[in-house]
Amino acid sequence: MAKKANLVAVLDIGTTKTSALICELTEGGVDLIGFGSTPSDGLRKGVVINIENTVESIKGALEEAERVSGCNIRSAYVGISGGHIRGQNSLGIVGIKGGEVDSEDVQRSVEAAKAVNIPTDREILHVLTQSFMVDDQDGIRDPVGMTGVRLESKVHIVTGSVSAIQNIVKSVNRVGLEISEIVLEHIAAAEAVLTQDEKDLGVAMLDIGGGTANLVIYYEGTVRTTAVIPVGGHYITSDISTGLRTPLAEAERIKKEHGCAYTPMIPREETIQVPSVGGREPRDVSRQILGRIIEARMEEIINLAYKEISKSGYEDLLAAGVVVTGGTSKTEGTAELTEQIMNMPVRMALPRAIGGLNDKVDHPMYSTAVGLVMYASQNMSRKVRNSSESWIGRTCRQVKKWCLEFF
Ligand SMILES: Nc1ncnc2c1ncn2[C@@H]1O[C@H](COP(=O)(O)OP(=O)(O)OP(=O)(O)O)[C@@H](O)[C@H]1O
Ligand SMILES: [Mg+2]
Repeated sequence: MAKKANLVAVLDIGTTKTSALICELTEGGVDLIGFGSTPSDGLRKGVVINIENTVESIKGALEEAERVSGCNIRSAYVGISGGHIRGQNSLGIVGIKGGEVDSEDVQRSVEAAKAVNIPTDREILHVLTQSFMVDDQDGIRDPVGMTGVRLESKVHIVTGSVSAIQNIVKSVNRVGLEISEIVLEHIAAAEAVLTQDEKDLGVAMLDIGGGTANLVIYYEGTVRTTAVIPVGGHYITSDISTGLRTPLAEAERIKKEHGCAYTPMIPREETIQVPSVGGREPRDVSRQILGRIIEARMEEIINLAYKEISKSGYEDLLAAGVVVTGGTSKTEGTAELTEQIMNMPVRMALPRAIGGLNDKVDHPMYSTAVGLVMYASQNMSRKVRNSSESWIGRTCRQVKKWCLEFF
């Protein structure tokens, strides 16, 4: 198989499917050159509960993506979520050495903010800087070069359970892949669906998947709150299966073909045909009844998300409202129900278009995977920039040294 430079591979190991994306980073952006997606049943509520099944699912998705791209992948960025994820805000205060903030002071203040009491069974996944304060001046994004005596950093720390993280690592390693970085799925999806303006103005993004719904709040361009709601579309399917007494596979099909999460949108006279179990005759059922089952579960998910938004203290600051994505957001009426419960403007989002095989991922269920690609490409270009900056820095220092030696 071919080896190409500038390749990035990502894995979104979800509760209902695993997706593997292989992209080529070009000067014009990102081209999707390999895609594979396989059903996943090794996770519950976003957490690995069966290593073998998870490995099989990753293997299937990866092999397909490698076959399509003709590339052999050695490492990948991998998403993580689940009920074990916790987000907390923290402060770090340090004295400014030399009266002017430099990057070392910034680093020390972030390190100080990281020094919170984290139980030994938890691990830090991300430390996201929010803003800085130099003496009494608050809300500074980049404090380097400012004069002062005291630097305070505000950060959002995301932690996860060591064992849940290890089970993801183990499953990925078992297919022969190294992990480039484990990325919180909320942050990844936000990269694929939110605009910078929305992040600056204040926005809540809700990614409703199969086993969980991930919530992240941005304000003034940075992450303020992250939360995981342990309910998703799989529960809607299971409710339909029980409520309409039909097999799970039929419930899933009926949900996708006829489902609606907001009953006022369903005409009263509409009926659907529902296959029965045990060889009984199919029945005609009012679409309103199907709608009521879906609406009840969707209301639960959106209410839980709204509770987190209210708890965060940012509810009145979200000028850009709510952006909803994830496979379950495809259900008709999701925007209307969310708007009614949260009383905020709602936008339904697909992942931002990328080059190459974009039509394969043009569905809200791929927001996290596409976002992982965007996160990875930003990370890689940052590394290139840093290495070229340090090259320029090194050259400048060398020139300065020569000048001092000569004159
Ligand atoms: N057209 C559709 N209408 C309604 N629901 C849909 C539609 N398409 C997909 N879904 C639902 O989306 C869910 C899967 O979404 P997604 O792929 O985002 O979840 P996941 O990443 O596998 O799970 P999680 O992120 O919760 O771990 C399934 O429950 C599926 O039934
Ligand atoms: Mg998902």
